[in-house]
Amino acid sequence: MGALGNPEGSREQLESGAGRRPKCFSLHLGILPLTVFLLVFFGYGFLSQRSQKSREPGAVTRMVYAQPKVLTPSREDVLVLTPWLAPIIWEGTFNIDILNEQFRLLNTTIGLTVFAIKKYVVFLKLFLETAEQHFMVGHKVIYYVFTDRPAEVPQVPLGAGRKLVVLTVRNYSRWQDVSMHRMEMISNFSERRFLQEVDYLVCADVDMKFQDHVGVEILSALFGTLHPGFYRSSREAFTYERRPKSRAYIPWDKGDFYYMGAFFGGSVVEVYHLTKACHQAIVEDKANGIEAVWHDESHLNKYLLYHKPTKVLSPEYMWDQQLLGWPSIMKKLRYVTVPKNHQAIRNR
Ligand SMILES: *[C@@H]1O[C@H](CO)[C@@H](O)[C@H](O)[C@H]1NC(C)=O
Ligand SMILES: *[C@@H]1O[C@H](CO)[C@@H](O)[C@H](O)[C@H]1NC(C)=O
Ligand SMILES: *[C@@H]1O[C@H](CO)[C@@H](O)[C@H](O)[C@H]1NC(C)=O
Repeated sequence: MGALGNPEGSREQLESGAGRRPKCFSLHLGILPLTVFLLVFFGYGFLSQRSQKSREPGAVTRMVYAQPKVLTPSREDVLVLTPWLAPIIWEGTFNIDILNEQFRLLNTTIGLTVFAIKKYVVFLKLFLETAEQHFMVGHKVIYYVFTDRPAEVPQVPLGAGRKLVVLTVRNYSRWQDVSMHRMEMISNFSERRFLQEVDYLVCADVDMKFQDHVGVEILSALFGTLHPGFYRSSREAFTYERRPKSRAYIPWDKGDFYYMGAFFGGSVVEVYHLTKACHQAIVEDKANGIEAVWHDESHLNKYLLYHKPTKVLSPEYMWDQQLLGWPSIMKKLRYVTVPKNHQAIRNR
């Protein structure tokens, strides 16, 4: 019979078991406290390191700022949120001190790509000088200047934590090809280089200048900018590609916004996906003997219709004062066209 049938036996077993214990006890007495001590010592260190690592980026300091008021909208005159809950960035909707601290804690590095092909190098100086004054001030920035004329890239003094990288690329004779091949070049360099060097990419036209603050409030996985000529228009009025033969085709009953090709960006991996997809669509169109009506911009609009941006920049981030004046909803004009004779530049 086993232990259950014979209580005595079970006690015996227990006792004999207990009789063997002193050895175990002596082992436990020696090793257990040491194990516990080591676990506590190293485990605590390990855990506290982990929790510090996961806590640090989000912990902003106790600064003083105006309280957000649930019953007081930040702006009543403009849409500040898309139906897919992406913020639309307008002056008055964000506190830059909180955002600056959040992005500083994440040690964010921002890449700004700009194409200065052929005569467009003349725009670089003003673009870079004004970027030094207004673009991502206080953060780490790498300017990626794509050009076929590396010797003509101007020397512009750069602030601390900011550098300029010249990427020599080929030119194309048609300005439409220069414009469209930007998608290919950004996607190529994203894969080869940008992924290792920066967290976000901002892709900007060079024939522009920064006139007011453009900072980390724009950064998000994927962002596009409202075209200043169409922010009040209905979707039927957007200059989307309307020919079904093109990969950029958007039917009349579709569309959220008309985005401008001159200012977009996001995390490097998202910009890589976007530029690669647009480049592939451009290549397919070419093979099919069609070119989208607004070139890379048409393909950008198609992409952003079916891959919704996580932030949308208001026309404060893309404005032409000569053409559009200064309406009251525009509290700031941040990134603006510089007066020029466009046709003359294009023909050179
Ligand atoms: C911040 O990023 C730079 C590289 O851009 C790196 O050298 C540095 O160690 C990073 N600092 C922290 C605290 O992560
Ligand atoms: C295009 O680039 C080539 C060198 O790659 C250069 O010789 C030529 O002058 C450039 N064309 C223009 C119009 O700048
Ligand atoms: C991009 O990369 C592909 C393959 O690596 C190459 O064939 C192509 O010439 C590159 N394009 C540019 C513009 O550098």
